[in-house]
Amino acid sequence: MEFKTQKLLHGGDYNPEQWLDRPDILEKDIEMMREAGCNTVSLGIFSWSILEPQEGIYHFEWLEEIIDRLYSRGISTILATPSGARPKWLADRYPEVLRVDGERRRQLFGFRHNHCYTSPIYREKTAMINKKLSEHFGSHPGVIMWHLSNELGGECHCPLCQEAFRGWLKEKYGTIEELNRRWSTTFWSHTYQSFDQIESPSPIGETQLHGLNLDWKRFVTHQTMDYLKNEIQALREGGSTLPVTTNLMYYFQQLDYFKLAKELDIVSWDTYPTWHKEAVMETAYDNGMCHDLMRSLKKKPFFQIESCPTSTNWQGVSKLKKPGVLFSQSMQAIAHGGEGAMYFQIRQSRGASEKFHGAVIDHYGEKDTRVFQEVAKTGKALRQISEIAGSEVKSQVAIVYDWDSQWAMEDSQGPRNKGLHYHEVLLKFYRGFRKLGYNVDFVDMDCEIGGYKVLALPMCYMFKEGFAQKVRTFVEHGGILINTYWSGIADETDRCYLGGTPHGLMDVLGARSMEIDGLYDWEENQMVPLEDNVLGLSETYQCKYLCDLLELRGAKPVMVYGSDFYQGYAALTVNAYGAGEAWYVAADAEQRFYEKFIERLMRHSRLTGVLDQEIPQGLEVTTRETDEFLYYIYQNFGTKPVKIPLPQGKVEVIHGEQDEELPVYEMVIVKKKKEDTENRHDA
Ligand code: GLA
Ligand code: ZN
Repeated sequence: MEFKTQKLLHGGDYNPEQWLDRPDILEKDIEMMREAGCNTVSLGIFSWSILEPQEGIYHFEWLEEIIDRLYSRGISTILATPSGARPKWLADRYPEVLRVDGERRRQLFGFRHNHCYTSPIYREKTAMINKKLSEHFGSHPGVIMWHLSNELGGECHCPLCQEAFRGWLKEKYGTIEELNRRWSTTFWSHTYQSFDQIESPSPIGETQLHGLNLDWKRFVTHQTMDYLKNEIQALREGGSTLPVTTNLMYYFQQLDYFKLAKELDIVSWDTYPTWHKEAVMETAYDNGMCHDLMRSLKKKPFFQIESCPTSTNWQGVSKLKKPGVLFSQSMQAIAHGGEGAMYFQIRQSRGASEKFHGAVIDHYGEKDTRVFQEVAKTGKALRQISEIAGSEVKSQVAIVYDWDSQWAMEDSQGPRNKGLHYHEVLLKFYRGFRKLGYNVDFVDMDCEIGGYKVLALPMCYMFKEGFAQKVRTFVEHGGILINTYWSGIADETDRCYLGGTPHGLMDVLGARSMEIDGLYDWEENQMVPLEDNVLGLSETYQCKYLCDLLELRGAKPVMVYGSDFYQGYAALTVNAYGAGEAWYVAADAEQRFYEKFIERLMRHSRLTGVLDQEIPQGLEVTTRETDEFLYYIYQNFGTKPVKIPLPQGKVEVIHGEQDEELPVYEMVIVKKKKEDTENRHDA
């Protein structure tokens, strides 16, 4: 079920169930939403106890009335399935729906997002209400999509989940001998005699079998997906064919989103950057990278389903967004391929744990607030640029981001338990490309990589079966590979590869990692350029945390270490392989290195981004495209107005002022006919 819309979604989570005794407020909300340019709300996310106040007794009238009223005023509904929080009667009558934690304690009723996703009763109860909702609302013209549950995550260690885990393992390994082999259970004499003996990892039990830990994480994703399928199936049984989404989260470690996304028709995510904690541009890079990851999960448009209009009350400090930042944040979602920018929440709650969470309409309840005005400005802009809806982001560059590899790497015990700084390394790569205006996709090891020109493997610890071969073919056919230290170390069950690493790519890279040095936080080494190197690098850069010591097997050194007993050993190398080139970055280099290295490498490889011009500090440039047009989106996340580098040829302005300097937090969009661009490349 493809999601297609002619408009960019604007609106947010709306909780009318908290205001059923105030019809005046409900009426006013709709008026205010219209004034703020809202066209969509998410409803019913936490409404189960009102939708089904007693087992089997459903009350949908109030919801229908609200959906009708919204629809009559041009506002669509993303309707939730209510499983994110269950009614008290359900927990009391069927305690098996409550989660059991790692220490094997069953939780009491309370909080949310904490049901057992294996429990047949929970599955049955959610299926029943989903089916009823689908029958009732599935063909309502005002309902455009299903919002499945809420922020799925966490794990349950109850007996039902243990049984399902054992079944999953049996299916995966066939025999207990094979499982023992793959998990290396002879270590510390932890060998299993049968599948029945297996328990999920626990702080009061097993934590040292990395194969078990990894498979448990995989199982949690599998079981969550299985649960989700059950929810979706019930909606389909109720007759609805509407697309489904669920709200994903920022670099969420608990679930493999590449897998989960397969069950969704469209990806959406909850965006809560800590603006003003550091320079706004820094946050913009990190947030932009997460948008790109979300878009990459399905390689399709996604949308921002939640974000806070002002300060977020669960973060350490409730920082106000400075004027303009709400607008920029919303537009950044669109720039990176989003089909909408929505908020949590439309109206601020009066009590309980989110009463101080920012909202479009705050406790004061009127339009003359700074936040409301900025929301309205955003709504207007989204309407104005709506022709961009449905256009795509295309990238020449892909960075490997693989949940399995990351899980295994973070659990691996060595070479640096004080922090591998993986996220920072990803960001350093990402910024190197983005500063030049390259769009960036993320791929996991199962994704198709053939269409990219550049593939980066930052700390790709695990090489799954077949992956090295895929990368080899990529380079053979002319691809540019950038590998780093701590790649190709372990297999799919986290057993180390024998015979040298990076496993399966030593000939492609022309190098073997002999040893890796972990550095103390205060230590550093240097990467020193060799004279007349192919990239013309001339500066020395600092490196920290991890230094790989390479044996060169054909690769040419480009930089070498500046100190320690491995002074003079290669720190950056290149190897020609097939029609392509394979680069090896041996240490955790500082940001400045990545910027220069990537800039020179792109030039050396004769690649150009969408703009063949320098992009000023603080400016983000992203492109979206249709068959006919290229849209250039410029956003100023810096500290002063900047001149925007326009593409050559004739452009048409869609938003903003192209001739003047772009003020801080503002945006310009221009469009250009595609043939013009192609002509320019041919010339
Ligand atoms: C999450 C949830 C919402 C709300 C917000 C608050 O994103 O999905 O229900 O709690 O956080 O920021
Ligand atoms: Zn369970």
